[in-house]
Amino acid sequence: MLFNLTEEHLMIQKAARDFANDVLKPGVIDRDEHQRFPAEEIKQMGELGFMGMMVDPKYGGGGMDCVSYVLAMEEISKVDASCSVVMSVNNSLVCWGIEKFGTEAQKQKYLIPLAKGEIIGGFCLSEPEAGSDATSQKTTAIDKGDHYLVNGTKNWITNGNSASVFLVIAQTDVAKGHKGINALIIEKGLPGFVVGPKENKLGIRGSDTHSLMFTDVKVPKENRIGDDGFGFKFAMQVLSGGRIGIASQALGIASGAYELALAYSKERKAFGKTINQHQIIQFKLADMATEIEAARLLCIKAAWMKDQHMNFDKASAMAKVFASKVAMAVTVEAVQIHGGYGFVKEYHVERLMRDAKITQIYEGTTEVQKIVISRALLA
Ligand code: CAA
Repeated sequence: MLFNLTEEHLMIQKAARDFANDVLKPGVIDRDEHQRFPAEEIKQMGELGFMGMMVDPKYGGGGMDCVSYVLAMEEISKVDASCSVVMSVNNSLVCWGIEKFGTEAQKQKYLIPLAKGEIIGGFCLSEPEAGSDATSQKTTAIDKGDHYLVNGTKNWITNGNSASVFLVIAQTDVAKGHKGINALIIEKGLPGFVVGPKENKLGIRGSDTHSLMFTDVKVPKENRIGDDGFGFKFAMQVLSGGRIGIASQALGIASGAYELALAYSKERKAFGKTINQHQIIQFKLADMATEIEAARLLCIKAAWMKDQHMNFDKASAMAKVFASKVAMAVTVEAVQIHGGYGFVKEYHVERLMRDAKITQIYEGTTEVQKIVISRALLA
């Protein structure tokens, strides 16, 4: 097994790192404070190829592997996890979902602008009463011949206001359980489609999270992804890939906080020497670096398995459960190393600590990942 990154990987990593430091860092505190969506920054990310990294170039993407995506996600997340969640949902849920399971017409109409970053996508599974228990969909998509009539409410939708296109999971035939669920591509602006108020969140405050309401929304049949009843399996497979993105986001949040803590420890003096000369701080840094390295290996392994077309469900769940736990632990330590300065916004680590928490919740809670892992172990 090779542990070296290729020249191309290193180039992508550097491009993402430079972009994050030069473009994202200057406004990140302000965007967090005012919950301002990074519209201009996301546009630039699209122009640089970060919004459809793994999509085939014939559909406007970068044609890169999933390892490259992990590397870029880590660098963007080190600086601005609000930008990286927009990137992650667009790349690994929406673009990958349409590219892998969509029709040629759907790819031509939706995937190309999504992969180029000309428009943004969203993914709608969660509902007021269906989060972890994803089969309990209350949103309905009733078959009306040439179209579906969609009614219901979706909650916690990332890119809820900024996206132009949503992949919506809805129940067509309750009697069939998960086999009666469909996935539909729904455009914003259709009559009966209303974007609810923005959530006021603890972290990733630059990203826009909304409820979406559907009242008798007519969706053409050609917008269904896959065969009738494929929606639940579609959601599970897409989320499995999405978890590599969120695991990489957690990794980036952890490594961003660690790098800040390391730099601070070299400058801050206490008891007559810089604090990095105290063993208590050295041991904290050693633990943080070791945990981050382990999380990175799990992320890259899951991505590599996806690139090899192997089953990566267990690997992506393991990467997410571990990296998100590391993100929480490392960001808390980074604040502690900064002391009082860690508690104020200018030093960035308090934001990273707030951002870390969501990585244990969205795209499947830690508990859901453990269901996925244990089922794979016991199968
Ligand atoms: N690939 C293919 N098929 C899969 C699959 C996968 N990864 N996982 C499950 N399936 C299939 C099963 O084989 C089964 O099919 P059969 O009946 O034909 O055998 C079917 O799907 C049902 O599977 P389960 O019985 O395992 O379903 P379950 O009800 O027990 O649920 C669960 C399992 C893992 C808990 C699942 O409900 C789940 O993942 N829940 C979490 C959902 C989630 O991640 N929500 C996040 C919202 S999206 C979000 O956060 C996006 C955002 O904006 C950031």
